[in-house]
Amino acid sequence: MDLNPQTIPSSVQLVTVVDVHHWTERLFSFRVTRPDSFRFRSGEFVMIGLMKDDGKPLLRAYSIASPAWDHELDFFSIKVEDGPLTSRLQKIVVGDQILLGKKPTGTLVLDALLPGKNLYLFSTGTGIAPFASVIRDPETYDRFEKVILTHTCRQVDELAYGEKLVKDTLEDPLVGEMVQGRLFHYTSTTREDHIHTGRITTLIENGQLFRDLGEEPLNAERDRVMICGSMDMLNDTKALCEAAGLEEGANSKPGHFVIEKAFAG
Ligand code: A2P
Repeated sequence: MDLNPQTIPSSVQLVTVVDVHHWTERLFSFRVTRPDSFRFRSGEFVMIGLMKDDGKPLLRAYSIASPAWDHELDFFSIKVEDGPLTSRLQKIVVGDQILLGKKPTGTLVLDALLPGKNLYLFSTGTGIAPFASVIRDPETYDRFEKVILTHTCRQVDELAYGEKLVKDTLEDPLVGEMVQGRLFHYTSTTREDHIHTGRITTLIENGQLFRDLGEEPLNAERDRVMICGSMDMLNDTKALCEAAGLEEGANSKPGHFVIEKAFAG
């Protein structure tokens, strides 16, 4: 599908799909060209979309799943059968053009966190996407000694994207050496057997996560947290952070933890 540059709104631009990977029946990722003028901070999101048949754009927020230094842009998406955008977006192929917003934004950024020792990245489902960016940013390791990425999905096959991401990060020529021994990946499932089972909230609450990692429970002096998942997951995980004495941060006022909804549509 080629789009006519004359008909697209000025808030978006055309980019070309350079790779598509289908992970499961419900999940796929894709990579697009990055315009020279497109700047963002690792962890931010941007509007992505397609033109509708009526000539209007159909846009949804997507976390950028590649680091700020990368020359192309990655995205990780759910496929919703009757979702207005993802029902069509899941059919893109290499060479297609899609719409990319010009103003990335978001709170899952290092600048919204106070200095600390451990950085916990709690994700469920496609909520891992912004952390695919954060764990490959050298600045993350300048600011934190340890980075602990947790990913919880219903089923084991939904963990594959994160497994490959972490493997590739450890082997990456730019950041691989820097992350060795400092990046930890903890996966759990809730509807199938796996090495760890249970919601991240349960694993935090009963202390299993910390026992498995050899860490102390959450502590405002030492630990910083980014959270990305469904609205319910955010609320429940946020409550546990607050119970541990952590305060929410924002771009304008850095704190101990930050949250962002995992986008789907
Ligand atoms: P569960 O299987 O118990 O619902 P989804 O695909 O629906 O976004 O779910 C992704 C993962 O997030 C699932 O493992 C799911 O567990 C988990 N989850 C759903 N709601 C919450 C919540 N309120 N707190 C923590 N984890 C949750």
